[in-house]
Amino acid sequence: MSVLFEPYKISKMEVKNRFVRSATHENLAKNSGEVTDELVKLHRTLAKGDIGLIIPGYMYVHPLGRAYSYQTGIYDDKMIPGLKKLVNAIHEEGSKVAFQIVHAGMYTFSKLIGTTPAGPSGEIMNPVAVEYSKEMTEDEIQTTIEAFIKAAKRVVESGADAIQLHAAHGYLINQFLSPFYNRRQDNWGGSDENRFRYLKEIVVKTKKVLPSNVPLLIKLNTHDYTPDEGITPSLAAKYSNWLIKLGIDAIEISCGSGYSIFNMCRGEVPFREIVQAVPDYMKSMTEYVYKDMVGKFNFEEGYNLKAAKIIKPQIGDIPLILVGGLRTKTFMEDLIKNKYADFISMSRPFIREPFLVKNIKEGKQERAACISCNRCLAAIPNDYPIKCYTNKWPEEKKQTCYFP
Ligand SMILES: Cc1cc2nc3c(=O)[nH]c(=O)nc-3n(C[C@H](O)[C@H](O)[C@H](O)COP(=O)(O)O)c2cc1C
Repeated sequence: MSVLFEPYKISKMEVKNRFVRSATHENLAKNSGEVTDELVKLHRTLAKGDIGLIIPGYMYVHPLGRAYSYQTGIYDDKMIPGLKKLVNAIHEEGSKVAFQIVHAGMYTFSKLIGTTPAGPSGEIMNPVAVEYSKEMTEDEIQTTIEAFIKAAKRVVESGADAIQLHAAHGYLINQFLSPFYNRRQDNWGGSDENRFRYLKEIVVKTKKVLPSNVPLLIKLNTHDYTPDEGITPSLAAKYSNWLIKLGIDAIEISCGSGYSIFNMCRGEVPFREIVQAVPDYMKSMTEYVYKDMVGKFNFEEGYNLKAAKIIKPQIGDIPLILVGGLRTKTFMEDLIKNKYADFISMSRPFIREPFLVKNIKEGKQERAACISCNRCLAAIPNDYPIKCYTNKWPEEKKQTCYFP
């Protein structure tokens, strides 16, 4: 049997194989954030495809931390019945499920949340929305921390097997960790220790509300790729070491933020599809910016492996979940055999082929068919539901225009 199908434990949670569906925003929740039947159906299908651990798309912990209109929410107890349905469908098909919780911080749109998006520091340009951030007050910071803890309690109530804190891709926790996004000089900034404090508070308080059988995972950026230095692999290694000391049970490593989203998803830059999402007055500028990116983010199998090799020695036996361009069975097997990673995490391949793992297991497939065209990513600001748009792109206007 391939090493990919050997079970492995994250703390006390046993996962039946080494495959993880990396969190993937689906654009399938209600406008209120509640779970829909379509969202449940999608996850039941993924579980039927034999993926060991499924992480649904990021769930916002507070209305001001919402990134998109059809994102799943976990900011209120009214979400719990729908979230339970999601968990039950995944469990019924034999997979484990972790909920990823997030606050978008400055990476949202004033039109969506009704006020200026706030992060650790003000006057920082969000290049996606083309808006400047506002600096959070002490009270606002405490409110977001509380929102994470309340959301963690809801994850437990929903029956999910694990929690993942989203500390990657430029969202609020990443913003506090990053010297680029966090320019504060108070207790929350000014040194690595201070920039780590926000995440530390969340981890320590979350651990207190978790039963001992519910592991706490984190998705961490190893490189922000911001105009000035943000998180780098060596800083991520330092943070990983501190996280292990706080009792984190597994680390998924990723990279990229709003300034460099195609580092997160290496491959093509679908500039026409992105231009479609913005209002007329922004189209020529958006085309100019994104067209210039074409050819600069070429796909490479396992593009976060180099960073994984820096992080792994810091975390010892704590499982490392590797994401980013994993496509070929032999490549994945080598990662596990060489102990560079303990889990193989994928996003785009499962959008195209929910049965990929089953097919690999049955010897029907050696490689994912995903070609990293990134149209699935461009679907998000267009408000199209998540699916593989490689062969056909819907031209009709659907989005809830997020832009000012
Ligand atoms: C459509 C889409 C939605 C995504 N949504 C999330 C998300 O909700 N949370 C997250 O941590 N990453 C998200 N990602 C990033 C993926 O989880 C993953 O890190 C990235 O796509 C690289 O892995 P891949 O090469 O297997 O696609 C998303 C990616 C895509 C393409």
